Amino acid sequence: MTPKRIAVLGAGGFLGSHLVPGLIARFGCEIDAVDIDLRKLEYEDSRIQRIEASVEDPALVAEVTRRADVVLSLTALCNPAQYSTIPLQVIAANFTDLMPLVSACAEKRLRLIHFSTAEVYGRRALDRSGAPTTAMSEDESCLLMGPVHLERWTYACAKQLLERVIWAHGQHGELPFTLIRPFNTIGPRMDFVPGIDGDGTPRVLACFLAALMRGEPLQLVNGGSQRRAFMSANDMVEAVSRVVARPRACRGQILNLGNPDNNLSIAELARRLASAFSALNPQSPAARFESVSADAFYGVGYDDTEERIPDIRKAGRLLDWQPREALSSMLPGIVEDYMRRYGTQVAAERSAITIREAS
Ligand code: UGA
Repeated sequence: MTPKRIAVLGAGGFLGSHLVPGLIARFGCEIDAVDIDLRKLEYEDSRIQRIEASVEDPALVAEVTRRADVVLSLTALCNPAQYSTIPLQVIAANFTDLMPLVSACAEKRLRLIHFSTAEVYGRRALDRSGAPTTAMSEDESCLLMGPVHLERWTYACAKQLLERVIWAHGQHGELPFTLIRPFNTIGPRMDFVPGIDGDGTPRVLACFLAALMRGEPLQLVNGGSQRRAFMSANDMVEAVSRVVARPRACRGQILNLGNPDNNLSIAELARRLASAFSALNPQSPAARFESVSADAFYGVGYDDTEERIPDIRKAGRLLDWQPREALSSMLPGIVEDYMRRYGTQVAAERSAITIREAS
């Protein structure tokens, strides 16, 4: 199936900014690229209509659902440091604000590919009887949230409830939907460097790269023994393109997209990033690592997933797809991108500090 016009909501985010060029290359179609901030969408093409607007705007929802033949919905607040500090905004951005869009797609029977999250699996993988397992599976695993006072789970609950709304529209109505659960996808342009193009705490990749560029210690929350499986943004783009191209196979399906082979501890990720950074910056001092408690790093209300490994057998079957990129081949390009983007500003910061200290 070749769509004529795809609406990408959240086109200025990390994943959106990778998907837009990928979808144009694959389908040669028109794209409505929507976001409140499109600066990350550096790619230019006459087939892209850049629309700076919020998904909360009823006129925007009416417009994109009138003319697109597929909607990709990616807008979110998806950074763990936000879940326990601005939980109400997190619930609004990941649930309430998206309800009108979902309703409009359902009414118009318009295909909706919605990006949910691996976080819906919660603290750990459980089978149907509640026994611990390793891989998280779309149609088998139970979803284990922590207690309400651990606000970390506001995001997962909001995302899970929207999944259930979308599912119900498909099951009891005629919404042609696919739900995607991304597992720790990384690549150039992910998140921000605090104090330069954003405030607060980004996700782990940007935290570590900011620390490396600034010569600060890499902070390992609770020692960094928790594990994640990291997938490259390129593998995500290929998988999503296949979802778009296979409406019949993917209708009414939930799909994990991730790379179980790139499963490692956060402490090991820190070491690998540090060595990729030092290979590109041989003059830089040796990286330092320090353990920090979750309360000190995120504040109260944080909780964590000890291990998050996707079961991607279903995506493999429905999409005829496998992730390809090993972590070792991804990291140098990511480090280069951050240095190109932020190197000058970080160097200016560091020389200002040196001058202040000397005077
Ligand atoms: C987050 C989001 O909640 C998910 O929705 C999203 O799918 C996922 O990122 C993603 O990147 O795809 P999480 O993996 O917990 O989930 O977030 P990260 O900020 O990337 O943290 C990964 C681990 O590193 C956590 O255990 C965290 O405590 C730790 N961490 C983070 C550190 O040890 N040091 C840091 O400086 C930052």
